[in-house]
Amino acid sequence: MFPAVSYLARHRLRGALSLEDFEVSAKRHLPKPLFGYIAGGSETNASLQMNAEAFGDISFRPRVLINTSSRSTRTTLFGEEWSAPFGIAPMGISALMAYRGDLVLAKAAQDAGIPMIMSGSSLIPLEEIVEAAPRSWFQAYLPGEPDRIDGLIDRVASAGYKTLVLTVDTAVLANRENNIRAGFSTPLRPSARLAWQGLSHPTWTIGTFARTILNHGIPHFENSYATRGAPIIASNVMRDFGKKDHLSWDHFTQIRKRWTGNLLVKGILHPEDAAIAVQHGADGIIVSNHGGRQLDGAIAPLKALPAIVDKVGSEAAVMIDGGFRRGTDIIKALALGANFVFVGRPFLYAAAVGGQAGVAKAASILSDELHRNMGLLGVTDVNELQSILIHKR
Ligand SMILES: Cc1cc2nc3c(=O)[nH]c(=O)nc-3n(C[C@H](O)[C@H](O)[C@H](O)COP(=O)(O)O)c2cc1C
Repeated sequence: MFPAVSYLARHRLRGALSLEDFEVSAKRHLPKPLFGYIAGGSETNASLQMNAEAFGDISFRPRVLINTSSRSTRTTLFGEEWSAPFGIAPMGISALMAYRGDLVLAKAAQDAGIPMIMSGSSLIPLEEIVEAAPRSWFQAYLPGEPDRIDGLIDRVASAGYKTLVLTVDTAVLANRENNIRAGFSTPLRPSARLAWQGLSHPTWTIGTFARTILNHGIPHFENSYATRGAPIIASNVMRDFGKKDHLSWDHFTQIRKRWTGNLLVKGILHPEDAAIAVQHGADGIIVSNHGGRQLDGAIAPLKALPAIVDKVGSEAAVMIDGGFRRGTDIIKALALGANFVFVGRPFLYAAAVGGQAGVAKAASILSDELHRNMGLLGVTDVNELQSILIHKR
């Protein structure tokens, strides 16, 4: 990389003390349409806001004079040990935000001992990711055409993934008017406005955009199907996000029959859906409103969590994402019965401003917060995080 670009990246990382700090740097570094694409939700941003606010309704009842000197954030999920009970949520087109985005997220996660979920709307072939970071998980959107489902599932299995996450909250494309206002579009269309954004954000233009085109050509959607999808600038690119409103639990059953690894359903908010997913053979649920990017006004996952834990917590792993920014946020979800937490935007901002080192720093900030706050709460093991330690408003 150009020395000036890498100097700036190191400088930005030195100043990051919390996950929120990566957002501030990313806002300066990324062209406005790209930052807007990551930061925004749908329509009025009501769910995005509610996700963040939900944590304020829960406070702690710490215990004192308990020897927590041997405390650990380690946890086990599906028989595998992870160094902390959090991982990186799937995020599409990461390789446009950060150079080799999915790869740096996956490698940093692997080094930190946490899972990274590779997005189905990504621009790097899924095979490259699992080869570099074998503990990665894969997230698929169900192809709209049932006959294309099997091909994708077989591809993911033969690449070596052990955990498949199906995202089910995208029956219809959301109204992301924020994206349009910020100048983001799919397909990406060249315009004077975009050109000006490139000129005025040279570290991204040189360090991510030009470097990607020079080394890897125009990015394509690589993982929507069994074969490579359309380039991000192609006018027919939306066919990769084809019609999905006819999909049902029968299609889920089709996948459960074919996929022998762990099968998770992401985007559940209703306890009845959690129960149906488990009845159909899901090994886990990710309680999620897609980071406030799908149905505007959908309940904050933290609020939906207790009823879902009540319904299926004894039969399946219950995971959650949406608005988690602090170690204390993770503790609140675990105390409400979640087994694991995923974090989205902050890791992508960290990748954009600092590459793999940025993601590593973000993971270590969150781990340190978790470790410190477990000590302040009087807890030695994440399994001791119980509802008795919290107070709900
Ligand atoms: C830029 C961006 C792209 C996303 N792409 C996907 C995706 O491809 N698949 C998916 O299941 N969820 C996707 N999500 C949703 C995240 O997986 C996750 O549910 C959400 O970001 C969690 O909220 P948080 O960002 O507040 O942590 C995306 C989110 C963002 C911000």
